[in-house]
Amino acid sequence: MFLGDQHMRVSRLAIAALLSAASLAFAAAPAQAGDAAKGEKLMKKCGACHTWDQGGKKKVGPNLFGVYEQNCGHNAEFKYSDGYHKACEKGFKIDEAMLMEYLADASAYLSGVAGEKVKSKMTFKLKKEADRADVIEFLKGNK
Ligand code: HEC
Repeated sequence: MFLGDQHMRVSRLAIAALLSAASLAFAAAPAQAGDAAKGEKLMKKCGACHTWDQGGKKKVGPNLFGVYEQNCGHNAEFKYSDGYHKACEKGFKIDEAMLMEYLADASAYLSGVAGEKVKSKMTFKLKKEADRADVIEFLKGNK
């Protein structure tokens, strides 16, 4: 009986070790690429403030057609916030890494680039990382 118990304990430990190794491997894996079709549906959340069709009008925020890979401040028709301008003086590009942070918290992203606390006019936050990945995938193709 004693030997049997010992055996059980060892194999339970082995399973626990395997499981934690598996979860580490999972955590280290690169973030899943987004799904553009899901992203397009999520864009409804952006529609109160943005259009994203070619030549679409500005609303509270700028039109987002072809925004991916643009340099900051590219939209001459739109009056960006002071916070945006301060960050843009330091320079940033609307790429995957930028959008991942910006869509989660625009003011925090701009503050990080500006090197001081600034506010974006975009107060909306897309909290779920998977949702951000989907929206980014959509924006990449929206050109
Ligand atoms: C409540 C209104 C509002 C919502 C909702 C909103 N935005 Fe914005 N967005 C803005 C404003 C305003 C700006 C300009 C930021 C500034 O000047 O600080 C902006 C800027 C941006 C920019 C930078 C554009 C550029 O030309 O540099 C991107 C990209 C962007 N928004 C994407 C999105 C996406 C994607 C969504 C939906 C998931 C979204 N926004 C939802 C108001 C909004």
